[in-house]
Amino acid sequence: MRVEKEKSRWGTASCPTVVQAPTVISMVGLPARGKTYISKKLTRYLNWIGIKTKVFNVGEYRRAATDKYKSHDFFRPDNKEALEIRQKCALLAIEDAQAFLKNGGEVAVVDATNTTRDRRKLLVDIFTVQNNFKLFFVESICDDPSIIEANILEVKVCSPDYIGMDKNEAIQDFMKRVEHYARNYEKLDYNHDRNMSFIQIFNQGERFLVNKLAGHLQSRVVYYLMNIHVLPRTIYLTRHGESIMNLQGRIGGDSDLSERGWQYAKALAKFVESENIQDLKVWTSEMKRTKQTAKFIKAPTEHWKALNEIDAGICESMTYEEIHEKHPDEFALRDQDKFHYRYPGGESYQDLVGRLEPVIMVS
Ligand code: SIN
Repeated sequence: MRVEKEKSRWGTASCPTVVQAPTVISMVGLPARGKTYISKKLTRYLNWIGIKTKVFNVGEYRRAATDKYKSHDFFRPDNKEALEIRQKCALLAIEDAQAFLKNGGEVAVVDATNTTRDRRKLLVDIFTVQNNFKLFFVESICDDPSIIEANILEVKVCSPDYIGMDKNEAIQDFMKRVEHYARNYEKLDYNHDRNMSFIQIFNQGERFLVNKLAGHLQSRVVYYLMNIHVLPRTIYLTRHGESIMNLQGRIGGDSDLSERGWQYAKALAKFVESENIQDLKVWTSEMKRTKQTAKFIKAPTEHWKALNEIDAGICESMTYEEIHEKHPDEFALRDQDKFHYRYPGGESYQDLVGRLEPVIMVS
């Protein structure tokens, strides 16, 4: 009973995802299919929801191991010397991922092409057979030339492989590199790989195929991958203007803006107008102070309960001096660990992370 109480006081009871076994998420796909972008975004998301996650990018291991990359020839399937280096680098990344998971890491993302069955078998042998980790493949398949071209222009020509090279030359070289991979590419295939857990993402989210999901973590990964936006967008963040309760030094509550708060709201609207933002949408919490702050901005506005400030429970509308005086133990506990501390009858910041998930998904 006591343990239960302590758990919920510190917010651990609300931690939404339990990782039962260390998990490897392994990317699959030709170059320029957004694998690195997905790996980084997914890793940021998993860390945000409290799962210790790290990316292992085989390209970076290759660049650290050799300066032999002069042109696409390095990736020819018949280039024996380079093949050896590439195999060594893949093994180094796998080894590091393994060590990470054995030392407290929960999810390792192996960002590599992994385009052959042999390579994927190696991953299965090392991660699942030898280590009993879970393994989930994420394959990005893209045959829309405009998406591939945009990816090459946005990301690949700026790659460290092409420093100092003319842009058009870099594009040509990269296309040839893709051709080398394409010659030996074996996609994940239901008939051959039906026992594996995987998701195939077609044309950056136009369509998905999911096979043999194993456990809660993989479901969360799929949920995330099916919701992420791939097009770049800009998000502007602002605090609400000063409220009456801010003036009194009180936390929480639902008061109106102060006079200075209204001034801020007007200045904010002017700034937003001067930015001339296309398709602007404004999101606020359900609190009066945030709605009033957005009041003069000319754009469609939505109010999200999920964006409400932390619920301070029994301390709502108090000043910090009052909390110190009336609840000295709470005051001290909060000081010890602000992230996990939950106000009695209210929330912790960790709770906020959970409640913000839908906002992150659609933003
Ligand atoms: C690279 O060396 O850039 C990529 C390695 C791979 O995953 O094939």
